[in-house]
Formats: sequence, C-alpha cells, structure tokens
Amino acid sequence: MTNINVGELCWNVVDQGVGQPLLLIHGFPLDHTMWQFQIEDLSRDFRIIAPDLRGFGSSDLSDAPMSMADFADDLERLLTELGIDSPVNICGLSMGGYIAWEFWHRHPQRLSRLILCDTRAAADNTETQNTRRATAERVLRDGTDFLAKMMIPKLFDQETLAQNSALVEATRQVLLGTSPVAIAAALNGMAEREDATDWLPDIRIPALLLCGVSDSITPAEEMQRIAEQMSDSQYVTIPQAGHMAPLENPQVCNRALRDFLGA
Ligand code: MLT
Repeated sequence: MTNINVGELCWNVVDQGVGQPLLLIHGFPLDHTMWQFQIEDLSRDFRIIAPDLRGFGSSDLSDAPMSMADFADDLERLLTELGIDSPVNICGLSMGGYIAWEFWHRHPQRLSRLILCDTRAAADNTETQNTRRATAERVLRDGTDFLAKMMIPKLFDQETLAQNSALVEATRQVLLGTSPVAIAAALNGMAEREDATDWLPDIRIPALLLCGVSDSITPAEEMQRIAEQMSDSQYVTIPQAGHMAPLENPQVCNRALRDFLGA
C-alpha cells in the first residue's frame, strides 16, 4: 500500500504491477480489499491502482458532502499524483460503477476502456432516495451494526454465504469498520446521482459489463439492457456469484477481464 496526498487528504492506494494502468473502484461501503483477487492476479500484466475512496478503508475522511462527481474528480487527481497522464482502463463495482459513469462524463480524455461490474445506469427513484436518506441519518445515530445485518445477506450468492464464511466475515468487518460519516455522505451522494441512461449511446469506447447471475441488488437483466444501449460493449454473466462477483468468482471474472483487456 502507498499513501498518496490528493489535495489536503491522504489516500491509501494499492499501486502494484507494471503495464497499462487499470483503476479499480470499490463498491459501497467497502474498500480496496474487495479487489484482492484481481490485484493478485492482474498485477502480473497491468499496473493496478486500487484506492480506498475518500473516507473509506484507511483513506482520510473529509466532512464535505460526497457526490459521485466528487469521487470521479478525486480519482482524476489521484491519477495525476501518480504521474499517469495517458488514458486508463477503469473498472467499478456498483457505487464504483456510478463513479465510473461520472468519470466518463467529466474526464473522457482520461479513459480508454470501461468495465462495469454489478451496477446500474439509472438514477434512484424517489422511494429509494428517501430510504437512502433515512439510512444515512440512522447510521450517524446508531452506527454500522444494523447496516451490516441488512446488507451482508444481500451482497452474496446463497452458495457464497453458506460455503465461504471467511470471505463473508472479512467483508462484514470492512463494513462494520467504515466511518458512519463516510457512509452517510456516500448514501446521500448516491441518492442525488445523475441518471447515466441517456449517456449510454454516446459511450463509444470499448466496454465490458459483468454481473453475478444471482445479484439481487443490481440484477443481471438490467445490466444486459445497459450493454445493449452501448455501441461497443460485451456483457458477461458470472455464475455462482451475487452482487460481489469479482470477490465470489474471481476465476471467471479475471478471465473475462483478461479477454477484454487483451492480456
Ligand atoms: C454498492 O454495492 O456499491 C451499493 O449496493 C450500491 C447501491 O446501494 O446502489
């Protein structure tokens, strides 16, 4: 891990391997460890950049609101701090995908290929926005326990829950240890995010969309429809995986990533 100063905040970042840069953006409310199997395998062929987003993992917390656009701008500054000025491959899971859409929208010249895992393009409806805002208030009041109870069963496929308790427990610990302030800010940021659906036909760079077959948070059929609206996209379903496909079935995910990136 490396500590990198981005503006006034110190970020915890994995910067491992040589080759084309591949920036991995974690989901909510996790950290870079959700990419552990991609970092280990793909850093043999790529320069993997896997940060803890502002306020998550061991990166500094700011008390400012955090929109998906703010996260995207943070990542653009991080690439500059790392001396990377050529276009990069970006891979985001779920909230990381929302940030990746914004990255494309705000910094298209910085992006060569886009990988979206277990995410959606549509914005929240009013009901989901209200639930997120209520959850943000509750986490600030009560801490992270209730959120872990609520989210962990939804993150994984039934088989992962039953047979990979070490992985599930490690994810629970990351969630429990995340700052309630960061969680609340990200929830409010997700509630207010832009709808990326209208952007899809304009995304002309190559894109790969992956989704766990039993993802109950961002369903596979919805990701397939996103892929159909993009001009140069591939869509791959990941068996034996729910919302955390890269963590649950790294062999199949890494093969798809390697095929797409030409390694
Ligand atoms: C995530 O995994 O990042 C979240 O489930 C995204 C969301 O709540 O929409």
